[in-house]
Amino acid sequence: MRLAEKVALVTGGGRGLGKAVCLTLAKEGAHIAIGDINLADAESVAGLVKQVGRKAVAIRADVSKENEVKALVAKTIETFGTIDILVNNAGIFHKGPVAEMTEEVWDKVLDVNLKGTFLCSREVLPTLKQKRAGKVINIASLAGEVGGILAGSNYAASKAGVICFTKSLAKELAPFGINVNCIAPGVIDTEMTQAFPREDLKKSIPLGTLGEPQDVANGVLFFASEESKYITGETLNINGGIFMD
Ligand SMILES: NC(=O)c1ccc[n+]([C@@H]2O[C@H](COP(=O)([O-])OP(=O)(O)OC[C@H]3O[C@@H](n4cnc5c(N)ncnc54)[C@H](O)[C@@H]3O)[C@@H](O)[C@H]2O)c1
Repeated sequence: MRLAEKVALVTGGGRGLGKAVCLTLAKEGAHIAIGDINLADAESVAGLVKQVGRKAVAIRADVSKENEVKALVAKTIETFGTIDILVNNAGIFHKGPVAEMTEEVWDKVLDVNLKGTFLCSREVLPTLKQKRAGKVINIASLAGEVGGILAGSNYAASKAGVICFTKSLAKELAPFGINVNCIAPGVIDTEMTQAFPREDLKKSIPLGTLGEPQDVANGVLFFASEESKYITGETLNINGGIFMD
């Protein structure tokens, strides 16, 4: 058990990558708060976490709303007494050219993907600083490294922002013994990528297949555990070799 009795808050934990993250951390001993805009999905994952013997709470929250993030973190602490691990996973996808992008759509994607990561991190920091320990793990994207191929520029820019936010926050929190790292998934088999031209994409992926949610969850587990204690500000590419740096 690499995370025995730790408490993890996973945003967007109701399905896809977030769901795999919740179950993977739970299997390693962590109790899980699942924050999601979709309460029914979060509750379903909470049920699965309980089945592996951990405590779980499902909380409806929109990560782009400051008051809802405050309530999400407060409820997590009220339930479990603390937070050790924050996984900023909630995100929304957008595709389409800049020429057709409205201000509203630009703002929505930046608000959820980038501002949401900022708001959740800021809200959890006092608890982590007090403990002088903790892990923040942000989910960015391949698009944030190389620009959008299928993704719109708003999505790519939001995820590039997440990568640089990770580095900046890592520097800010290093003196407190808090690690902040990031994962940049390529194309992973979730609801988000159902409409992608998957067969064409596979031809451009050196490992020849889409990733599975578990591939990303394994990376999150590494950053959540003490095995990565000397790593901070890093972005881990989990992309089958599409982009290597
Ligand atoms: N699937 C991929 O190929 C891929 C690739 C790169 C990055 N990502 C990133 O990984 C993360 C998870 O992606 P996924 O594929 O599991 O997506 P998904 O759409 O399957 O799941 C996203 C989850 O986030 C929740 N959510 C959406 N908006 C929210 C909000 N405002 N507040 C709280 N919760 C909200 C949804 O309800 C859902 O449960 C996202 O940040 C995404 O950008 C995914």
